[in-house]
Amino acid sequence: MFNKNQINVQKNQKYIVKIEDFGSNGEGIAKIDGFTVFVPFAIVGEEVEIVIILVKSTFAIGKVLNIIKSSKNRVEPKCPYFKKCGGCQLQHMNYLLQLDYKRNFVQNCMNKYYSNDANVENCVPSVNVYNYRNKFAFPVQKIDGKICVGMYRINSHDFIKIDDCAIQTDCKNAIDAFVDWANEYNVEVYNESEKQGVRHIIARIYNNDLLFVVVSTKKMQKFDKLYEKLSKNYNIVGLINNINTKNNNVIIGDKDYVVYGENKLSICENGINYTINSHSFMQVNNEIKTKLYDAILNNIQKDDIVIDAYSGAGVLSAMMAKKCQKVYGIEIVKEAVDDANMLKRNNNLRNLENLCADCAVAVPEIVNKSNANVIVLDPPRKGCDKNVAQTVNNSGANKIIYVSCNPATLARDLNYLNNYEIVCVTPYDMFPQTANVETLVILNKIADFN
Ligand SMILES: C[S@@+](CC[C@H](N)C(=O)[O-])C[C@H]1O[C@@H](n2cnc3c(N)ncnc32)[C@H](O)[C@@H]1O
Repeated sequence: MFNKNQINVQKNQKYIVKIEDFGSNGEGIAKIDGFTVFVPFAIVGEEVEIVIILVKSTFAIGKVLNIIKSSKNRVEPKCPYFKKCGGCQLQHMNYLLQLDYKRNFVQNCMNKYYSNDANVENCVPSVNVYNYRNKFAFPVQKIDGKICVGMYRINSHDFIKIDDCAIQTDCKNAIDAFVDWANEYNVEVYNESEKQGVRHIIARIYNNDLLFVVVSTKKMQKFDKLYEKLSKNYNIVGLINNINTKNNNVIIGDKDYVVYGENKLSICENGINYTINSHSFMQVNNEIKTKLYDAILNNIQKDDIVIDAYSGAGVLSAMMAKKCQKVYGIEIVKEAVDDANMLKRNNNLRNLENLCADCAVAVPEIVNKSNANVIVLDPPRKGCDKNVAQTVNNSGANKIIYVSCNPATLARDLNYLNNYEIVCVTPYDMFPQTANVETLVILNKIADFN
């Protein structure tokens, strides 16, 4: 009898396989003698010739050499860097299949880590499936004597030079302006041996307003010339030189020199005027952000007392405060809380309290003192602190609204919320062309626990 743990698959060997399923990064999954082979950029139902490029004890990875039977859902990727840079994983799938893949992925996470009874709704589509991102952060390197902007190949430090990015709102002009400036003035660029100079460029683009950040190890010069080049195509609201001397994977450092304008971008949405700076979190797809916030706001009533845990720059907290009795926003990043406080002042929201704290400490405190009846959780990818989830589960709140960018940690955390039942699980396509998905879960307290 065949043993599925036995590895018969050999590196560099070619096989013809049928794609049976999708993996968590949108890659195809095939079986060779029962052994799992991940095949990036292959679609369920396709028959492909692959070469094995990696063999591990429980799986292998195959690279497509030939598509023998192509899926009717396969489309031509729009971007020349697709498959090279690590940004997108799904450009070869038509959009309906992308949405279907995301719904099924969230459902599979629910089934695997939570319960088969949690029915996941259809994924809410994005109208813009390209050119939707309002933020980029690209590394800078000197290749063959020329300064370039790029992306890293997935799971590697291989630099791929790029001129444009298909999922960004107009970034080509910003890249061109920076590259022209850096080469014309022979700007010092970071490399692994000297560790001095420019490391990344970061931009937030909202309508045509641009907040542009040059991240370097030390203060750079000649920014007036960069300003001139950028201002040909954008309304520059801020040009910032951020200093990052740390030798780790964190892109942005703590120290900002404001070279021009201000380190803030002003936005008006749902009757709230707010600003974000280069450090604040903001959802990257404006249109889906609005749909997601509207769905949350539809669940907030006039008399509600709300805890908004992991509140970022406080935009959602403010929108909720406009509708209800009281909101407590809790966020750990000081700059984001500064933004949230400015937003509170500018919008005259006396019923909003922004706390700069770790949710693990502040959520239990506020649950104890506040009589909150709604708790919003919008944690980073690693999910909620266990202590936060358990405190929320034992709170007096009758409704929990959980927003997640990681279905696996979402499903894990739902297990701690067993005093609550799910009303709906709705994926939102915040990140078209990528395997990422945002999910909104609404939970109500189970009557017996009241
Ligand atoms: C997904 S964002 C949520 C942003 C916000 N709800 C919004 O819609 O703009 C997660 C936020 O949690 C913050 N954060 C991460 N760990 C935290 C912690 N332990 N306590 C409080 N906030 C934390 C991050 O700084 C980030 O702003």
